Amino acid sequence: MAIRNVREMGDPVLNKICKEVKEMTPRTRELIDDMFDTMYEEGGVGLAANQVGILKRIVVIDVTGEDPVLLINPEILETSGEQVGNEGCLSVPGKAGVVRRPNYVKVKACDRELNTFELEGTELLARAICHEVEHLEGHLYVEKVEGGLKDVEDIEEEEE
Ligand code: NI
Repeated sequence: MAIRNVREMGDPVLNKICKEVKEMTPRTRELIDDMFDTMYEEGGVGLAANQVGILKRIVVIDVTGEDPVLLINPEILETSGEQVGNEGCLSVPGKAGVVRRPNYVKVKACDRELNTFELEGTELLARAICHEVEHLEGHLYVEKVEGGLKDVEDIEEEEE
């Protein structure tokens, strides 16, 4: 297991469409483990494989620090409701911005053994699923920000 280098906005790999995972290999298992390590080390709630330079449809999420979620080949099946709130990304360090997201998401994905499962999420989990699935399509949340990208420090001051 290892911490991988997180690519930052401007790196073309973040705008590439990731490819479906068709078989599980030792290399892919190692990638998944490294993605979790990297996400925890960097203090993020989610990470997509292209953020560490690998064009595979793999996402890791943990919105509480105790609920690791692995989504391979994720596909959003249903969304409903709406939430408006600040969002950030490990590929856009020190920045955040307001993004409108569904408040409920149902996603279909494969697990580590490539068995299909469905997962429902609300609030932060729903937001993270949408954000990470968009990474796999080569998109960053900054494209959806309302009111401009802000420095995280300024947002923290506003909230005090
Ligand atoms: Ni991100």
